Amino acid sequence: MDLGLHGQVAVVVGGANGIGKAIAHSFAAEGARVAVVDRSPDVAIVAAELGPNSLPVVVDVTDYPAMQAAAARIEAELGPVAHVVVTVGIDSGKGGFPFWNLEPSDWTRVYTVNVQGVVNTAHAFYAPMIERRHGTFLFFSSVAGLIGSQTDPPYSASKAAIINFTQVAAKDFAPYNIRANAIAPGMVHTPLQRKVYTLATANLPENERPTYEEWCETKIKRLAPLGRMVDPEEIGSYAVYLASQHARNVTGQVLNVDGGWVMHW
Ligand SMILES: NC(=O)c1ccc[n+]([C@@H]2O[C@H](COP(=O)([O-])OP(=O)(O)OC[C@H]3O[C@@H](n4cnc5c(N)ncnc54)[C@H](O)[C@@H]3O)[C@@H](O)[C@H]2O)c1
Repeated sequence: MDLGLHGQVAVVVGGANGIGKAIAHSFAAEGARVAVVDRSPDVAIVAAELGPNSLPVVVDVTDYPAMQAAAARIEAELGPVAHVVVTVGIDSGKGGFPFWNLEPSDWTRVYTVNVQGVVNTAHAFYAPMIERRHGTFLFFSSVAGLIGSQTDPPYSASKAAIINFTQVAAKDFAPYNIRANAIAPGMVHTPLQRKVYTLATANLPENERPTYEEWCETKIKRLAPLGRMVDPEEIGSYAVYLASQHARNVTGQVLNVDGGWVMHW
């Protein structure tokens, strides 16, 4: 299937690792010109993998003036931006359960990165896109944002907020032929998932601690009917599809890529 993304400029904020890195590769495989944006200097490694039609940009998503400068630089050096993906997301680094095990102050950083980061990115990129009446945004929620997961309350609530903002943005952008959607992954093999494993198993005695692979296998079989983990590359396929004209009537939606973990009716 030709997705028609050849030569278009895609920006992946959070592109240095995990899901963002896989999405950057998927856009590049479709012939898109890709800006790999992240606070990690590893953007240079990813951009080198993608080839000459890519641009590494080191920036912290919480720094709005720096995000504005990054957007201007990408437009100038790579061309008119058509697709913006934000995969940036952090956890609180603390287990929840009950929520009062965390301090109210544990919420601030998670919200600033996960929610304000998405809002900063949307503000930094939207203006030339609505002038051109063309483009898409893709944000990242989580199954945690759909079911009130107790594992990490600020993370869970921030992921719900992203769904709400996606709907707001989809309505605001629609008259300008711009779409906004979200993906809610289940359990994906990424550095973030490794952190969740470390946190979840930290208090177990060493001789009872499962390996990362054992922990994933047990958890996913318990929670998802299909019983299998998601690979980042699978998410890349959905990201490019949602950016393409094949999805031209899809906006304000949350696509669960979770093996059937969360089902709505
Ligand atoms: N991995 C999973 O199983 C899973 C499940 C559900 C939802 N998600 C969501 O998918 C998204 C991607 O997750 P992932 O597993 O690839 O995460 P990851 O930790 O592997 O990658 C996140 C990237 O964001 C970057 N980042 C963090 N803070 C930043 C900041 N302030 N400014 C700029 N960049 C910053 C990191 O450097 C990293 O490259 C996240 O929003 C996450 O909440 C992941």
